[in-house]
Amino acid sequence: MTVKHRTQVGIVGAGPAGLLLSHLLALGGVDSIVIETRSRAYCEARQRAGMLESTTVELLRAVGLGRRLDAEGLEHNGIYLQFAGERHHVNFRKLTGGRRWVTIYAQTEIVKDLIRARTADRAALEFEVSETEVADLDSDRPVLRYTDSAGQRHEVTCDAIAGCDGFHGICRPAIPRGGLRLVAERSYPYGWLGILAKAPPSTDEVIYCRHEDGFALHSMRTPEVGRLYLQVPADEDITTWPDDRIWDELQRRLAVPGWELQTGPILEKGITPMRSFVATPMQYRRMYLAGDAAHIVPPTGAKGLNLAVADVATLATALIRLLRDGEPALADAYSEHCLERVWRATHLAWWMTAMMHVVPGQDPFESALQLAQLRNLVTSHAAATMLAENYTGYAPLRYDPSTRTAPTPLWPWVA
Ligand code: FAD
Ligand code: DHB
Repeated sequence: MTVKHRTQVGIVGAGPAGLLLSHLLALGGVDSIVIETRSRAYCEARQRAGMLESTTVELLRAVGLGRRLDAEGLEHNGIYLQFAGERHHVNFRKLTGGRRWVTIYAQTEIVKDLIRARTADRAALEFEVSETEVADLDSDRPVLRYTDSAGQRHEVTCDAIAGCDGFHGICRPAIPRGGLRLVAERSYPYGWLGILAKAPPSTDEVIYCRHEDGFALHSMRTPEVGRLYLQVPADEDITTWPDDRIWDELQRRLAVPGWELQTGPILEKGITPMRSFVATPMQYRRMYLAGDAAHIVPPTGAKGLNLAVADVATLATALIRLLRDGEPALADAYSEHCLERVWRATHLAWWMTAMMHVVPGQDPFESALQLAQLRNLVTSHAAATMLAENYTGYAPLRYDPSTRTAPTPLWPWVA
């Protein structure tokens, strides 16, 4: 027997997008259910992003999610750009007139904070579901079906469905043929081997390093735990990377005179493939896609998580206007209101990826262009400011259920 329910918004996926959406909707008095295939422990431990734009931090604070973030997040003024054996600091805070900075706070911690907040609020949040389906997408009452962890089948009639189920989810593929106008995609011949290590970071701010043998990134999670990445071929077998080889390669690529990389036990390692992907529009009637379900960026530039947060701030505002106040204009324009930011970030991530990664046997012309561009970034105030504005976030993220207007432009301080 199937148990039947009713809610306002059925949310598929308990990643940062789905959980934050449910939190924001609740603040606006809109009910939702979140269903997730994985366990709570798995969602809370999945190592992914760590770099937050200041606009993301400001939104999380404004909606009551800033306590641990403020206590434990590591605020950085900028990043280091390293190439040709030189390391240069780019101070985003100065370049943006003190308006923008970045914060290291792991996605795992954001997910834990969100799950704790939703659970304290007695939200409908179900882990370890299976056989998720979305149906009746052509009606005003789309339906969400799933089997819970005890084997019980459920059917939830909704006013709207939010596909927050990542790139491999079921919502985007459920859009009928012709429902997506443009699916733009680019793959890259490399991936990132990422490690989490019990080794104090050997840098005060994140280092992006272009090396003739490939890209390396030195980030961190806490003053005791480092997070580092190495460019590897897309189809690399991780078993060919024992811990000593990873540390040797990081040391070699990140080396500058007088600097030493601190090593320690590797707690976790994995390889992430790289892809750019945008599905347009990000909605089909009453089903709305947010985060990785709608778009993927390569991780250079740290945009994935920040874009997911921006999408759901926009979507929560629109759905509250629709479902609480009966005003559909913002919901109808959801995709249009997200896509300027999505394409801006897609360009930034593609550009930083192309500038920083080196493939074996690369055309010397390509290498010279990469180095010329990097040199320009560390010597031209205008070029560095362009990077600072793009990296640190755009206009304040809008979560404002009382608004009737379209979002502000991405660059509100530019006349
Ligand atoms: P997700 O976090 O993917 O959440 C989607 C959720 O939906 C998952 O929990 C999934 O289990 C669930 N789900 C899927 N299918 C179903 C279904 N049928 N029913 C129910 N639930 C379902 N970004 C950066 O900026 N920097 C990084 O270093 C970085 N590293 C990454 C490493 C990896 C391995 C990956 C995959 C991504 C990484 N990203 C990184 C990107 C960033 O983590 C994502 O942009 C972010 O997680 C997007 O959040 P989301 O909620 O949209 O999607
Ligand atoms: C981190 C990840 C990124 O993709 C990035 O560009 C910077 C930092 C991180 O995991 O800390």
